[in-house]
Amino acid sequence: MEKIKNFLKEGFKNFAPSFGLAIAIALFATLAANLFYQPKKITKRGFEIEIPAAGKAAVKKEEKLVDLASMMVSADVDRGAKIFKKCASCHTVEKGGGNKVGPNLFGIVGKVRATTSGFSYSDAMKSKGGSWDKESLDKFITKPKDFIPGTKMAFPGLKKPQDRADVILFLESK
Ligand code: HEC
Repeated sequence: MEKIKNFLKEGFKNFAPSFGLAIAIALFATLAANLFYQPKKITKRGFEIEIPAAGKAAVKKEEKLVDLASMMVSADVDRGAKIFKKCASCHTVEKGGGNKVGPNLFGIVGKVRATTSGFSYSDAMKSKGGSWDKESLDKFITKPKDFIPGTKMAFPGLKKPQDRADVILFLESK
């Protein structure tokens, strides 16, 4: 019995310092891990919040909304007059210009749809209702058959936003 006790005592004496060292190392490692790991974690969190992406999406939406308005700012009547040549095969625009394949377009901006006298409109155009503000003109001349399915205006549309704004400014000047 005494022998075993002594053996344990000796063993503990020998073991204790290395045990203490082990604890010290473990403590140090934990502290070090906390010190180095935590800042990393915080940095990562910062990247995971996707505010920049959401911000970009919001900006894009706004850009679409102000599209015509900003195009109108840089619109040019003389350019519009040139582009109107594409419309002139079917439309006159001067006061009392008369109807051709399409109705006379004098004062069309702000005018109630399908109301030029002496022109026989399609049912689609007649039943559209409302008046031609700049936004709806922009949509109509982008692709007439998309804005008014069944329209008899056989025109493919003006693809470039600036071309449309130029023509609208020209129409507005009449
Ligand atoms: C191929 C002939 C043709 C061309 C080219 C054409 N249009 Fe038309 N347009 C028509 C016809 C036909 C109508 C009547 C549509 C209906 O009744 O459905 C019309 C109707 C319109 C109307 C509605 C008028 C109203 O009184 O409500 C507007 C605005 C218009 N056109 C603008 C234009 C502009 C701007 C262009 C050139 C970018 C253009 N059109 C090119 C044939 C044409």
